[in-house]
Amino acid sequence: MDSPPSPHLLVLPYPLQGHITPLMQLSKLLASRGFSITFVTTDFILKQMLKARQALPADDLHRLGITLTGISDGLHDLHERNCMLQPLDFVASVLFMQTSFDELVGRMVQEQGRHISCIISDSFLLGSQDVADKWHIPRIAYWPNSLAALACCISLPRIMAESSNLDPFKPQVYEEESQELVTCIPGIPEIQACMLPFHTLGGENSELWMRHHIESQIQRVNKPLCFIVNSFPELERDIYTHFEDLLPSKPILPLGPLLPSTFLGGHDDPGTGSSLCDEDEECMQWLDKQTPKSVLYISLGSISTMDEKDLLEFASGLLASNQPFLWVFRPASCESPPDMEMPIGKVIKWAPQLRVLSHEAIGGFLTHCGWNSTLESLSLGVPMLAWPHMLDQLTNCWFLVEKLKVGLRLELDESKKVGRIGVENGIRKLMQEEEAQSMRDRASKFQHLAQSYFKDTLASSLDSLLKMIVSCEAKN
Ligand code: UDX
Repeated sequence: MDSPPSPHLLVLPYPLQGHITPLMQLSKLLASRGFSITFVTTDFILKQMLKARQALPADDLHRLGITLTGISDGLHDLHERNCMLQPLDFVASVLFMQTSFDELVGRMVQEQGRHISCIISDSFLLGSQDVADKWHIPRIAYWPNSLAALACCISLPRIMAESSNLDPFKPQVYEEESQELVTCIPGIPEIQACMLPFHTLGGENSELWMRHHIESQIQRVNKPLCFIVNSFPELERDIYTHFEDLLPSKPILPLGPLLPSTFLGGHDDPGTGSSLCDEDEECMQWLDKQTPKSVLYISLGSISTMDEKDLLEFASGLLASNQPFLWVFRPASCESPPDMEMPIGKVIKWAPQLRVLSHEAIGGFLTHCGWNSTLESLSLGVPMLAWPHMLDQLTNCWFLVEKLKVGLRLELDESKKVGRIGVENGIRKLMQEEEAQSMRDRASKFQHLAQSYFKDTLASSLDSLLKMIVSCEAKN
C-alpha cells in the first residue's frame, strides 16, 4: 500500500533578509521531519538568493525537501533595486504580493491538483490570511519580532485607553523620548512610551499606514491556527506566561532561536542558505589575528540608513574610541561613505554575521537591535551597544538594556541625533569598563539558555506544531 503523501506546506516570508532567514531555518527543520515545503518569495529576492555566493544551491534545498518558488511583487524594474525600497514601495509590493500569491495557490490547487496542508506566512503579510481563507487552507502566522513587540502591538487598544493623551504613532513621542510610562501590557509591568514598537521613519503617510497595519493585525488576530515566534520561553518568561491574558484562544509557539544548529551547540548544519548578499570571507582571517574579546562588531542590519552627518559623527566617535572594529557598511545605507582612514578597523559590505559573532575576537556588538541581530547576539553570548532606529528595534533595545541588562543604549546628543562623544563613550563602556564583564556574563547565561532550549525543548515544540497541522488537516 502506498504511504500517504507528506504534508505540503507553503512558507511565505516578508521579502526582507531578517524575515527570510528564520523562515528558511524553520523550513529546514520541518523538512527534516518529513514535510514537503514550497518556499515562496518574490522573483527579485529569489534572484538574489540564487546569486549570493554562500547560498545553498536550489538542488541541495530540493534534496532536503524544499522547493523555491518566485512570485511577482509588481515593482518590475521601475526601481533601482538595492535593498533600499521606499516605505510606499513596500506597501505597494505587499499588496501586489497578495494577488500573485493568490494566483500561485490557485494554480497549485486547481491546475496541478496539489494539496496544501497549511500556509505558514509572515504576520506582516496580512493578505496571505485572505488567500488562505479563500482556498480553505489553514494558516499559521509567523511573528518575526520578539514576543514583547507582539504583546505591545496586541495591547494597542489598552495603551490608547490607558492614557488619552498618548498617541503612540506620533513621531514626537520618540523624537522627544517621552518617558510617560505605559503599564497596561500583560507581562510588561512598565515601559516608557518612547520604547513602544510604533515609530516609523517615513513621514506622515508611513505613520498612517503603520496604524492601519497594526489595527488590521489586531482585527485578524484570531484567524490563524497559531502564532510561531522566533523566541524561547526562558528569554521572555514574564511575557510568555501572561500571553493568555492577551490572546486567550490562540496558542503561541516559541520556536526560536531559529539559527543553524551549529551555532546552538548542535551538529553541523549547512547554514541557512538564504543570504541575499555575498558574505565577506576575508574578515574571518582578519578576526583570527585579533586579541580575544577586543573587536567591536558593527552592523545596522539590512535596511537601516544614515545621512552623511550622522555617518561622520559616528565614524569620528568610533575612531576616537581607539577600539578595533569590524564594521558592516552596506553601500546602500548612505549616499556617500566616509572618506577616512580606518587604521585599526575593517570595513566590509556584508558579514557572515553568525560566524563573526561566534568568533573569540568579538567583545561586543553595536547593533540597531533588529530582532534577529538581538537574538543572534544573545544566543552567542555577546553584549550589545544599542542604537535602535525604529519600530520593534526600540522595544528590543528596552528589553536588552533594561530587562536583561546585557547591553547599554548609545547616548544621543541634545537634538537626539548621534554624536561623536556619545559613540566614543558608549564603545568604551561596552568594551573596556568594569560593567563590560558583568554584561558579558549575563549574555553568556542567555547563550546557555538558548542552547538548552535547542537541545531539550525544540523537538517537542516542533512535534506540537506538526500535530496541530496534521489534526487540522484531518478535520478539513
Ligand atoms: C528587519 C527590521 O529592521 C527589524 O526591526 C526586525 O526586527 C526584523 O526585520 P533587519 O533590519 O534586517 O530586520 O535586522 P535583523 O532583524 O537584525 O536581521 C538582519 C539579518 O541579516 C540577521 O539575521 C543578520 O545575521 C544578517 N546579517 C546582517 C548578515 O548575515 N550579515 C550582515 O553583514 C548583516
